[in-house]
Amino acid sequence: MIQQLEAILEEAKAKIRQASDLNELGDLKALYLGKKSAFSAAMQDMRMMSESERPLFGQRINAIKAELSTLLEQAKTQIEKAVIEQKLQSEAVDITLPGKPIRLGATHLVTQIIEEIENLFVGMGYTIEEGPEVELDKYNFEMLNLPKDHPARDMQDSFYITEETLLRTHTSPVQVRAMLANHNQRPFKIICPGKVYRNDDEDKTHSHQFSQIEALVVDENTSLSDLKGTLLLLARTLFGEERQIRMRPSFFPFTEPSVEVDISCHRCNGAGCSLCKGTGWIEILGAGMVNNAVLSMAGYDPEKYQGFAFGVGVERVAILRHAVDDIRQFFVNDMRFNRQFR
Ligand code: DAH
Repeated sequence: MIQQLEAILEEAKAKIRQASDLNELGDLKALYLGKKSAFSAAMQDMRMMSESERPLFGQRINAIKAELSTLLEQAKTQIEKAVIEQKLQSEAVDITLPGKPIRLGATHLVTQIIEEIENLFVGMGYTIEEGPEVELDKYNFEMLNLPKDHPARDMQDSFYITEETLLRTHTSPVQVRAMLANHNQRPFKIICPGKVYRNDDEDKTHSHQFSQIEALVVDENTSLSDLKGTLLLLARTLFGEERQIRMRPSFFPFTEPSVEVDISCHRCNGAGCSLCKGTGWIEILGAGMVNNAVLSMAGYDPEKYQGFAFGVGVERVAILRHAVDDIRQFFVNDMRFNRQFR
């Protein structure tokens, strides 16, 4: 019997050597090492052998099975290797080809300026507030002391959605929302960046959409000089340490007194040039002390509290600082324009 088994072993070895894929090997494994293999059957037959024959025979069968096992494993590894080799060959990439340059994105100039202003004010303890762009007439106008039919509404041509809702024309309604939502925090200091919309005809200096940042401080003993100090810091942060500011009387329904704020021209340093139209000064924002009517509508006692506020146009700052000649450049996403401000 042992000769017969040795013959089967030789035959198995030959077949394993020839096997060319993993399925074939699997079949061979079942055939020669499985329960129904000749070797398993031989193990069963051992029961009928004499005590003296049995150990030698058993050892031989176990050795044969071990040998086959090893051979199968080796063949398997080899086939797997060959498969990988073949894949590497067929999917080879020419790593010497030059790569495609990857263009890095950059922050848009408008966003950069918003972030500069946010950093300045967050550093002074202000929190950032946001409000909806589709706003109620009540917050955009009425509670800012602009009742229906108030002539000053004409200063801000509006996109109405319904009688009571519109695209906000300024970030000032966020003041109202924030004041209504919070009476506990003192001093109350917020800035509100965001997009605003006006029903204006577009040209080099007008766009139906632009960005503003609103600032509001409410506290006891807040004065116009606090506002002035804050604006001086803002002007110097945005336009350089040498800047001076001046305030001119103005009118906004939500502030009293109201001021228009100019900075000394950063191009000619106040001497007079085309940018400042020879005056040495450039208007950059509107501001004032929060009107008592606005404070009381928002639930603050104007006998006890005062506030200052201002609203600055972000694109205007960008246009002045970087000599941009057309506000529409900020919205058309011409990469040649955008890339200049990385
Ligand atoms: N909301 C005004 C505008 O869009 C800007 C403004 C002026 C905001 C004075 C203020 C302020 O907070 O006090 O024209």
